[in-house]
This record gives sequence, structure tokens and C-alpha cells, in this order.
Amino acid sequence: MKKRILQGVISCLVAAGGIAACSEKVAQDKNDNPVRLGADWPTLHGGLVQDADMEAKIDRLLEKMTLEEKVGQLIQAELRAVTPQDVRDYHLGSVLNGGGSFPNNNKYATVDDWVALADAFYHASMDTSDGGVPIPIIWGTDAVHGHNNVIGATLFPHNIALGATRNPDLIRKVGAATAAEVAATGIDWSFAPTLAVVQDDRWGRTYESYSENPEVVASYAGPMVEGLQGKVRTDEFFAGGHVIATAKHYIADGGTTGGIDRGDAQFGEEELLKIHAPGYFTAIEAGVQTVMASFSSWQGEKMHGHKYLLTDVLKNHLGFDGFVVGDWNGHAFVEGCSTVSCPQAINAGLDMFMAPDPNWKTLYANTLAQAKDGTIPASRLNDAVRRILRVKMRAGLFEKGAPSERALAGDESVIGSPEHRAIARQAVRESLVLLKNRDGLLPLARNQRVLVAGDGADNIGKQAGGWSISWQGTGNQNSDFPGATSIYAGIAEAVESAGGEAILSVDGSFTQKPDVAIVVFGEDPYAEMQGDIANLDYRGDPDLALLKKLRSQNIPVVSLFITGRPLWVNPEINASDAFVVIWHPGSEGAGVADVIFRRADGEVNYDFAGRLPFTWPQTANPENPKVQYAFDFGLNYSTQDVAGLLPEESGLSEPSGEEELQLFAGRALAPWKLEALDSSNRSSTITDSVTELNGLRVQMVDRHVQGDSRRLQWGGKGSATVGLFANQRTDLSGYLQSNGALLFDVKVERAPSDEVRVGMSCGTDCRAELPVTGLLQATEPGEWKTISIPLQCLAEKGARMDMVLSPFYMTTAGEVDVSVNSVRVSANVESDMHCG
Ligand code: BGC
Ligand code: BGC
Repeated sequence: MKKRILQGVISCLVAAGGIAACSEKVAQDKNDNPVRLGADWPTLHGGLVQDADMEAKIDRLLEKMTLEEKVGQLIQAELRAVTPQDVRDYHLGSVLNGGGSFPNNNKYATVDDWVALADAFYHASMDTSDGGVPIPIIWGTDAVHGHNNVIGATLFPHNIALGATRNPDLIRKVGAATAAEVAATGIDWSFAPTLAVVQDDRWGRTYESYSENPEVVASYAGPMVEGLQGKVRTDEFFAGGHVIATAKHYIADGGTTGGIDRGDAQFGEEELLKIHAPGYFTAIEAGVQTVMASFSSWQGEKMHGHKYLLTDVLKNHLGFDGFVVGDWNGHAFVEGCSTVSCPQAINAGLDMFMAPDPNWKTLYANTLAQAKDGTIPASRLNDAVRRILRVKMRAGLFEKGAPSERALAGDESVIGSPEHRAIARQAVRESLVLLKNRDGLLPLARNQRVLVAGDGADNIGKQAGGWSISWQGTGNQNSDFPGATSIYAGIAEAVESAGGEAILSVDGSFTQKPDVAIVVFGEDPYAEMQGDIANLDYRGDPDLALLKKLRSQNIPVVSLFITGRPLWVNPEINASDAFVVIWHPGSEGAGVADVIFRRADGEVNYDFAGRLPFTWPQTANPENPKVQYAFDFGLNYSTQDVAGLLPEESGLSEPSGEEELQLFAGRALAPWKLEALDSSNRSSTITDSVTELNGLRVQMVDRHVQGDSRRLQWGGKGSATVGLFANQRTDLSGYLQSNGALLFDVKVERAPSDEVRVGMSCGTDCRAELPVTGLLQATEPGEWKTISIPLQCLAEKGARMDMVLSPFYMTTAGEVDVSVNSVRVSANVESDMHCG
């Protein structure tokens, strides 16, 4: 970072030729020392001005609050791990419900249940029987496409679809409707909007991004914040039915190398500013009150511990005076931190820990101790608490009374109201992107026999996507979405009202030949982590077969593609007469029929208005990007589709599974790097002859030739890991299919004192580990031996072979001393290890 700042100073002095321009790049640190910024961060105008009376009120509260009460404000616990009594005892500042987390653990919780729990938390926070200062609690929820954890809520199309509408006014309406539904359940705060500007569509959160284009994101961020919170400096701001918004995930969550969830954004500050920051500028100008730190890193440094970006840039330079909340234990990954201790994050500028585990009480105790002994300076603690209190005051929580007494609270008719559904249906209509329309097949006449096929036709869970009732959006049935309309239901209504016939047949079979077939297919729901993919191949073989079969019977085929991102579907497009990207439209599936059918009188009902918010690829190989449909592409009823057949080469090489794949042969082979990670999250890429971390020593040693092996010595100081890691995914599924195994040669210098495991990983919470303790113990000291681990065993334990990030790592908390050489993956291996 020092180097970056120095560069900033130099370029400033050289380029600007004037002190005034230079001083724009200076922020103040806490001691009012100037901090040089490494890029030309803008000076923002608008937003909110601090109110002197409010600040004086906060001063008085801060004087009265004990250290215990202040630390309590910094903690946000999760519904499944907190009770109102805890809120009372620990003076907690906040609670959240994670994706798929409900009052009483009941998916079918009623509006009254939500409000009752909100009241219980509120009363606990205001209870002064222990002589404490009453500070109203705030409850945060992921209302990321409508109030999506609540049964019966309006589910708006996901952000990628909203991006296609290019309609900021509509975004404002979506925000306001969402806020009203959140307010109806007594909740104060939504963790939205996501301002990711996704640059690699393999990321499983691509659909949470409005666009790959920073201008589109910036044009939406402000209106979405206004819709949720109300317009700043007007009476509407936080008046009835508005809730606190969150700009997330700060910053460059969409810029990680390889699109890897929680990965590392590896580029300079100029790119950070130009591509990933503009959404934050308009959000701050619209008065956004909270910012969520990203799980990801920038240039190898975790955002939760990034003082320069959190404090110097966001707070001091951009003037953000609300509070920064963490993301789901995100603090635990900062160097030197764990889930239960992370003064580093607070000192870097995080104001509230999102601490979902039951061990938040230990985090509280440790943070309190760190506040007492000055590890967290009083000035920083007070600043964090001041920010939290400021947001609560601005939102009116000190005056609005219990959640049940607030505007809209408990009003069931707000949830999924006709007005909100109408906005969602409009958003669906405007988001549809027409990629192909051969011979003007669309718009269709209504009074025909229409076959509606595909597993997405009458499947509201699939059309809703991730973050719908459940976290990953899986495990739901149509009946879990009361009031919603499937795509088929919308088609049936349009067709039958005009005397036509709509036949639902998922597999496309029929008795009477239809005039036209509409096939609805695409991605199944997923959310963060689980949605990452190794390449952009849709892999829709059964769908493609269905399209071809219908076409071979001379039935015109309209494809409606449900997806959270651009995927390679050239074969499917070629096999269709018309092809429409419908994204994840949410609960109002009828918006699709609105556009693809003519009115009963034969006129166009609604024209296509959607334009691609992301570039659509010509191959499935993102390493070799060729464009099939450019950003902004989208046909409508007055454009003539002149495109012919699209190329059908996927650009992928089949995963071989025959030749042996060397991973480490004297050195780590590209793309792998040998890396070590100690118990305090300190990581190190091993290049030198000796690397020492806490309780782990890695040294170059000789086997056949000089330095061809590594000696790994664990000292038993907490769990530490050494392994091969990459920033891109590798597909090992070919080896899995050909009875392959992970092999490595090992020499034991000292037998393990505790369990040693070998693992393979495909991301956070996507890994498999198997114990090798016995095998190591059975090895003659000083003798080399080959250990083989069947890929099948790793696959059974949850390693996804098609998207491997680490094909080999060794981990233990105990002591062990081994040398390792020749790590590889081979086909057809008879292994002596048995799964289980
Ligand atoms: C929660 C989500 C959360 C995720 C993070 C899930 O169990 O329900 O809200 O984002 O964990 O790992
Ligand atoms: C996600 C956030 C979300 C939080 C709470 C995290 O895992 O990254 O986007 O707001 O969980 O559910």
C-alpha cells in the first residue's frame, strides 16, 4: 500500500500541476494526518449533512453508555442464535435473519410472527431495568429481490434482469415497494442493493449484479437507495414504509480473478475506482446509510481489514458517515483474526460485526476486553457507536416506537399487494431480451394451440432463482409462493382468454400437434458459493434434445431461457426459431406472456424493451472471450432478425482424464502455487527456500535433484495448511470418470501427533478432506512412499471435480514432519485407500 500511495503522490504532482487538484486526493486519517490517495477519487456532493442537534444528542448518549453497552452496539447476531433476552443482556445493536432464516424457524411464519419477534427484540433493547441506556435495535434482512424470505411477498426479477430494463425510475419503484413489504413485517433494514460490477460471469452472484457496466450500476444505485429509504432532504426520507438500505459488497466483489466467490481482485486502484466504485458514489449521494464490507480481497488484502479503503477512502474522503457492517463472519478471514476476535477489522473501519454463529458471545467478550485494554482505541469505538446511533436516529427509530406501531407494520395486505405485483410484472416485461426471432415468429397469436414445455414452465422456484424463501432458492414448491404466477399460468391466461388452448407438458409430448411450442428451460436456483462455475457452458443436453425433437416435427419453437448470467447456448439458439432470455423473473411470470403474445385484436401488446446488461459469449471458454451478442444488444418487433446459424464450437477442450496431470514436480506447476496458511489466517506463497509461519515451517529439500521436494514441519500451534492453490478452476471430472486418484510421494521424518488430513477444495464451504494419519504412521521413517487417494472418495465427500481450486492440501493442528514430492492426478489407479 505504501508503494501505491507514493505513486499517487507522484502522479498527482506531475499531472495536476497545481496544489488544489493535488489536495483533492488527500484524505485525513484519524489523527488528522493527510493520507495520500492512490487514484483520483471524486469529491461527492449531495448526500446528507450532519445535524448539530442530533450529534449533540449522540454525545449525551455516548457519555451515559457503559463500555459494555457500546460494545453491544457493534454486534449483530443472527436469528437462529439470539433471543430477546440476549439482546437485553448484551445491549446488542442489531440482529439479522440470514437467507432462509425465519421467526421460530418456521418457513411459513406469518406477518404477525415477524412483527411479534421484531417487537420482542425492540422491547428488549429498550428495557432499562438494569439501568442501561435504551437504544432501539435494528433488524437487517436480505430483501434483495423483494422481501424474499417472506412467504407471499412480491418477488421482483433479480438484479441482472432489472439491469436489462435500463429504467432507473422503475428501479426506484421496485425499491419503494420492497421497502413497504419489509416495513410490513416490522423490519428496519435491507441488505441491498448489491452494487457489484461483475466482470467474470462464472461468479455465482452474477445475477445479483445490475450490469458489467459501471454506468448502468451507477444509474441504478441512487434510485434504488432512494426507493428504499425515501428521497434525502424531503419529508419522505425514512417516513412510513421506508427502510435503511445497504450498498454492498464494498468493494470490487464483482472483480475477483476467475469470478471466484470471496476471491481476490487483482488490479490497480485506477480500475477499482473506474469500474467498481461508481455505484457507491451515487448510493452515497442518495444518502445510503450502511455499507457492507465484501468478503473478497483487493490485491491480496481482505476488505474487512482494509483500512485504506474502508476508512481513508470511504469514510474520510468520500464522506460516508453511516456505518460499515461486516458480512457473515467475514472478519474471521482477516489476518490475525478468528470468528471470535478481530480488533483489526474495527480498527480498519468496520463498525458492526455480522456474527451469525452462537459464539458471538465470545466475540462480544473479546471485543470488550480489547476496548478496555486499548487494543481498540476509545476514539475508534466511540466513532463506530456514533455512526450506528446516527443511522438509528436518522431512520427515526428513537421516535417511531415499537415495530408494530410503525407505518404499515402488520398490514398483511401490503405483502404481495396488487400494486407491487404490477410493478414486478412491468419489470418482467421490460427485462426480457430477444436474441432471435426468425421470420418474425413473435409476437404469437393467442387463439392457437400452444404447447408449453420444459422444466421451467410451471416452476416458480426455478423462475425465482436463489435468495427465494430459502438461501439457495432450492427446496420450494409452487405452493410456497402464494399469489405468484408461473410462466405457464401467464401463457394459459393469455391464450385461453382468446379462445386458444395452452397445454402444459414438461417433456414436450402431445397427442394433438400444437401450432407452436414454447419451451421454458435454464439454470436451476443457486446463490453465493454454490453458484460458481468453471466455464460458461449451459450443458443443457436434455433441453437441446427437446428443442430438436419439436423442430423435427415441424413445430415452430420459442425458447424462454431462465438464467442468472450469460451462458453459452449457441446450440440451443440454433435449435429455436425465437429465443428470449427471461433471466429469473420472480413471482410475476405473466409478464412474459404480456410481451410474446399479440393482443386479441392482433396488435403488438408490449414490445421488447430489454437490452443485454452483460456481454453474451460466443464460446463457453471465458479465457478466450469472443462476443456473440454485444452489451446492449436486444431485438424488438421493429428490428428484423437477419442473423443466420451461430457457430457451435464451445471452445472447451474435453477434460482429458488420460494423461497424468502433474501438479507439483520440483516446483508447483502453473496454474498452481504452493501456499501455506497458519491458524491466524496468515498466508504465504512459498517461493523461498525456507518459509516460516506461526507453527509451520516449509523448506526446500532434495530427493532426486537439488531442491525438488518440500519438507513440511508442523509445530502444533493451531491448525495450519500447506497446499497447491490457483486463482482459476480446473476440471478434473475426466479423471474422476476414469477411476483416477490424487497421488503424492511422502517421506515421514516424524509421525503425526494428531489427525492429518489431505483435502481438495472448490471454494469456501466446497471441499472434501480425508484423514491420512494412519497411512503416515504406517510409513517407515526416512523412506519415500506413494499415497493415493481415489477421486471418488473426495467427490463423495463434496469436492466438485469440475471446478477445483486446490487439488491438494495437507492440514493438521498437531505436530508432524514430512517431505513431499511429485503431486499428481492419474487415471486408472488401484488405490489402497477405501472411501468412508
Ligand atoms: C445463511 C445466509 C448466508 C450464508 C453465508 C446461510 O446459512 O442463511 O444468509 O448468506 O449462510 O454462508
Ligand atoms: C452474503 C450477504 C448477505 C449476508 C446475510 C452473506 O453471506 O454475502 O450478501 O447479506 O450473507 O445473509
